[in-house]
Amino acid sequence: LAVLGRSDILAGEHMLVTAGGTREAIDPVRYIGNRSSGKMGYALARAARDMGASVTLVSAPTALRAPQGVHVVPVESAAEMHAEVERAFEEATMLVCAAAVADYTPATVASEKLSKADGELTSVPLVKTRDILADMSSKKGDRIVIGFAAETNDLSRRAVDKLARKGCDAIVANDVSRSESAFGSDTDAVLWVTGEGAEEIPCMDKQDLAYELLKRAKELKS
Ligand code: CTP
Ligand code: CA
Repeated sequence: LAVLGRSDILAGEHMLVTAGGTREAIDPVRYIGNRSSGKMGYALARAARDMGASVTLVSAPTALRAPQGVHVVPVESAAEMHAEVERAFEEATMLVCAAAVADYTPATVASEKLSKADGELTSVPLVKTRDILADMSSKKGDRIVIGFAAETNDLSRRAVDKLARKGCDAIVANDVSRSESAFGSDTDAVLWVTGEGAEEIPCMDKQDLAYELLKRAKELKS
């Protein structure tokens, strides 16, 4: 794997990566978020750079340092991420969607901070967000598009379903109920699912896994 670290496997490719967990505003101070650390997406962006690609990282908020030599586009919400991915997709030759994107967003955003003094707030009406991965897959042309699936049960069946539903080239599925694949972990064990079938990739450091996944992604091109 160290050999993959500095290589030209992805020379000439423009890799677009999404990372982090989106934040959907409720009011100016509160949001609906998720447990994504962004570690896998950032590892993929660094790996793509090391393997010779030019890299754009559309990142929802994380606590991570921006990788050197990578074009980072910061976003907050699912809608912002969708707009920036759509823009960058034009030039991209490969897309990896590692972000945890909100499936629902508040139907309206309060322009001022909500206060308990305003009365009981017991629910927040939500509307569905658009699916970035499915949307890009539907217009992928000869690009390679890879998605992730974080599941707690029925890993393989759900991953196979997701591959078909999204129309992408591969799904990287992990079981976030297992300690080695938990949110925030530096390691992951995944299932690599393509039209050819499913293959287990054993637990390893996320940076090493990133090299392995991008090598496999590139192989889908030939
Ligand atoms: N994804 C996306 N845009 C969305 C939702 C998801 O691009 N609005 C991408 C994620 O980045 C990931 C893949 O789709 O690569 C799968 O996300 P996941 O949440 O597992 O799939 P969903 O279709 O949202 O299904 P679920 O009901 O299991 O959340
Ligand atoms: Ca989802």
